Amino acid sequence: MKNTLLNAVDIHKSFGTLKVLKGIDITVYESEIVAIMGKSGSGKSTLLQILGTLDNSDKGTVEIDKVEITTLKSQEIARFRNDKIGFIFQFHHLLNEFTALENVLIPAYIGQTNSKLTNDKAKELLDYLGLSERLDHKPGQLSGGEQQRVAVARALINDPLLVFADEPSGNLDQESSDELHNLFIKLKHDLNQSFVIVTHNQELGSLSDRTLYMQDGNFI
Ligand SMILES: Nc1ncnc2c1ncn2[C@@H]1O[C@H](COP(=O)(O)OP(=O)(O)O)[C@@H](O)[C@H]1O
Ligand SMILES: [Mg+2]
Repeated sequence: MKNTLLNAVDIHKSFGTLKVLKGIDITVYESEIVAIMGKSGSGKSTLLQILGTLDNSDKGTVEIDKVEITTLKSQEIARFRNDKIGFIFQFHHLLNEFTALENVLIPAYIGQTNSKLTNDKAKELLDYLGLSERLDHKPGQLSGGEQQRVAVARALINDPLLVFADEPSGNLDQESSDELHNLFIKLKHDLNQSFVIVTHNQELGSLSDRTLYMQDGNFI
């Protein structure tokens, strides 16, 4: 039986009178790619934010790595998130004033890990992602696909237990999009990396191990 990385039970979330999540259950195992699909406005991003500890649910529990998130104080959550969770968004959210290498290093500095080791590791990661010639480029000097791969390296620098991605290929052309999807598969095989990916992309849906469809506040 595979290790359970995340177990969320009976997640509810409303914004005012709008009930967005109505009792979601989800379990994610190690070395697994889970795709979450569903219409725009169905609550995918809301769910991902809650699973990723960026937002609170109104009701329900989220356990990551056997830790129930609501038992942590807010500083502990920030630390936990930086250690255990990587994020990739539709828009890369790289810092424009910093180079590719510096952007990848930011979560490592926050975690106060040894700088020589992390510097080497960031270079290794960028090399693995085909960006060894782009270390000193700023985001504005990179293509959309390259920017997103830097964001992947940033998500991976602290060896996260789990990576959450919200429409990561939503802003990419077909070729870069395929490249990114293949990269997720490769990371799963090479590093046993687990992902929870919100996507509208059918191909990514079919490449994933499991696809969950959201509708009316629940999975169908
Ligand atoms: N912070 C918020 N305040 C009020 N309404 C929100 C907020 N975030 C999301 N919503 C609403 O919740 C619903 C689900 O949004 P979202 O989770 O972003 O959907 P999806 O990612 O599936 O497109 C939408 O109707 C959206 O307008
Ligand atoms: Mg969304």
